[in-house]
Amino acid sequence: GQIVPDRSLLKTPEQIEMIKKSAALNTAVLDHVAAHIHAGMSTAEIDKLVYDFTTEHGGIPAPLNYEGFPKSVCTSINNVICHGIPSEHEILIDGDIINVDVSTILNGYFSDASRMFTIGEVSPEAERIVRVTKECVELGLKAAKPWGHLGDIAYAINSHAQENGYSVVEEIGGHGIGLEFHEEPFVSYVTPKGSEMVLVPGMMFTIEPMINQGSPEFYVDEDNGWTVYTDDDGLSAQIEYMVLIKEDGVEDLQKNTENLPQATPFFAYSGIKKDYRKGQFLFR
Ligand code: MF3
Ligand code: CO
Repeated sequence: GQIVPDRSLLKTPEQIEMIKKSAALNTAVLDHVAAHIHAGMSTAEIDKLVYDFTTEHGGIPAPLNYEGFPKSVCTSINNVICHGIPSEHEILIDGDIINVDVSTILNGYFSDASRMFTIGEVSPEAERIVRVTKECVELGLKAAKPWGHLGDIAYAINSHAQENGYSVVEEIGGHGIGLEFHEEPFVSYVTPKGSEMVLVPGMMFTIEPMINQGSPEFYVDEDNGWTVYTDDDGLSAQIEYMVLIKEDGVEDLQKNTENLPQATPFFAYSGIKKDYRKGQFLFR
């Protein structure tokens, strides 16, 4: 009993080219946020950075109006697990950790990735959950092999989280991506090694575990229907990669820097001029 992907989940070389262009713009948007995020700004300002940069480069922010989501990006601070809605009333302060989750449509093709940022001086425990989350995603990526299983990725992530005293959210996971925002399969990060779908060349999906400091339980904001909070108010961190399974390995499209959009001054100093980034960002 192996679970194998439907043919429709395997991307053609032409589709892969187009999705990679979308992913390159998505990465550029994240770089743009990284260059401008700082204490004292509102999450609505992050939303504007994302909307303006994406549309200036011919893209559409995928979250905007997606099933009623009202903004262009998800911004999830501290005890927010995911799907935080940017607001002019929410100001970044020293000590915050924030996930910025960017998704882009370019010429009809979808991409999706997220990073954690630390704002100013953060507590050792906040720093640790961000670092371990990055390690979890990297270990998940390493465990992904053509003809392996989705569960291999989950096992690598869940074991490392647990070894560090953290828990992994169960009911929210990753997804196929490319021709649609959310495609099959659902990607769990708590399933056993060797279980779940076989990783067939041509598949594309996200690795985006949500790592909680305390319990993995959560609740959803009743008023907006989106924002997901830790049940125990503990910290939560998430990093999202978008991967392509190939015959000879796995490509992380979030790190793709081919075909980056050109001709904005931002690229001249991206990641180089340290003082330009008032907020620090970790683990590019
Ligand atoms: N990476 C997130 C996800 O796949 C992006 C959510 S955008 C939203 O769930 F619009 F759905 F909130
Ligand atoms: Co996603």
